[in-house]
Amino acid sequence: MIALASDHGGYRYKERTKVLLDTLGLAWKDFGTDSEESVDYPDFSHAASEAMQHGECDRGIFFCGTGIGISLAANRHRGIRAAACQIPEAARLSRLHNDANVLALGERLIDWDTAEQMIRMWLETPFEGGRHEQRIAKIEIE
Ligand code: RB5
Repeated sequence: MIALASDHGGYRYKERTKVLLDTLGLAWKDFGTDSEESVDYPDFSHAASEAMQHGECDRGIFFCGTGIGISLAANRHRGIRAAACQIPEAARLSRLHNDANVLALGERLIDWDTAEQMIRMWLETPFEGGRHEQRIAKIEIE
């Protein structure tokens, strides 16, 4: 189950991602927001991240204006590795090297075609493991 979250700045891409995931036959759960009315991105990032921590969702795709704020909030949760990416290669490497379980995208920074390419790439790229396992194990500090 893929957790979806956004603030108003990423709302439209979150809605488009639902259609994309439906096309791909992937299940999703939407943790808001529900419109383009101004809201605070941590509220939605925390809700979706908690669902991942509880095992309700196993990965997430989050959106805000830049992808930065919503990823910062997500990364406060143990076990969440949210990667704010602006180019497709970053999304690919976030899976290969960082085993990122949240992809964070900025609707104000990238066009939809690029976002879709990044989402597809991120979903299909496996974690490489090996030397990267020990590095990931050192990320959590408390
Ligand atoms: C909202 O205006 C904007 O600050 C937010 O979407 C995001 O870009 C923050 O990181």
